[in-house]
Amino acid sequence: MELGLVSEGITEVIAVTKDNAAPIGIIQREGQCPKLILFKGSKTEENIRKYGWVTANFVSDAYVYAKYAFYDAAPEELTKAGAFQRLSAADAYIPYHASVVHETENTYLVDLTPAGEEVIISPGVRRVNRGFDAVVDASVHATRYVRTHSEELAERIRYDLALIRKCGGCREQEAAELLRGVCGFTDTE
Ligand SMILES: Cc1cc2nc3c(=O)[nH]c(=O)nc-3n(C[C@H](O)[C@H](O)[C@H](O)COP(=O)(O)O)c2cc1C
Repeated sequence: MELGLVSEGITEVIAVTKDNAAPIGIIQREGQCPKLILFKGSKTEENIRKYGWVTANFVSDAYVYAKYAFYDAAPEELTKAGAFQRLSAADAYIPYHASVVHETENTYLVDLTPAGEEVIISPGVRRVNRGFDAVVDASVHATRYVRTHSEELAERIRYDLALIRKCGGCREQEAAELLRGVCGFTDTE
């Protein structure tokens, strides 16, 4: 199966919808169209239901995963992409039409249909950095931790924070600081 930027499995992107950005996973399974599972209550799901589009933005800055999981995008951080919007700092993006095809008590299942070509703005080589990956992982756990305060999640986040300290660069350290703040951890955690 020929795949572009979205590979089989789950690709974590920054989903831009009208005036909003949030990290979201695109689920790609063989023989199926790309999909999103959106938990109810986010701006992303509200916008997708209202406007029916999303752009998948690819970024090489780990910090934005932590940032947009908890904070809104400033107007200048978004720019037009045809009739849609994208991250101004995206390395690449894909525009999609998005429609809800199934609903459960807590989620919407969304089918994605490409609304244009993949656009590569800065071609580059993906570096392998455990600190970068740990920021993404810790950000996912943190979005759940702030709601549940589960000790199990806290432990996973602390593990990721230790990895970031060891393997991450400057932006990863800044993301760790942001995550420690939203989770209410002390500096030494
Ligand atoms: C890497 C990553 C992936 C995520 N994937 C999803 C997802 O697939 N579906 C979802 O509903 N939330 C996901 N989240 C959580 C949302 O980003 C989070 O709830 C965010 O606050 C929603 O922002 P919004 O209200 O601006 O849409 C993910 C978070 C991270 C850090």
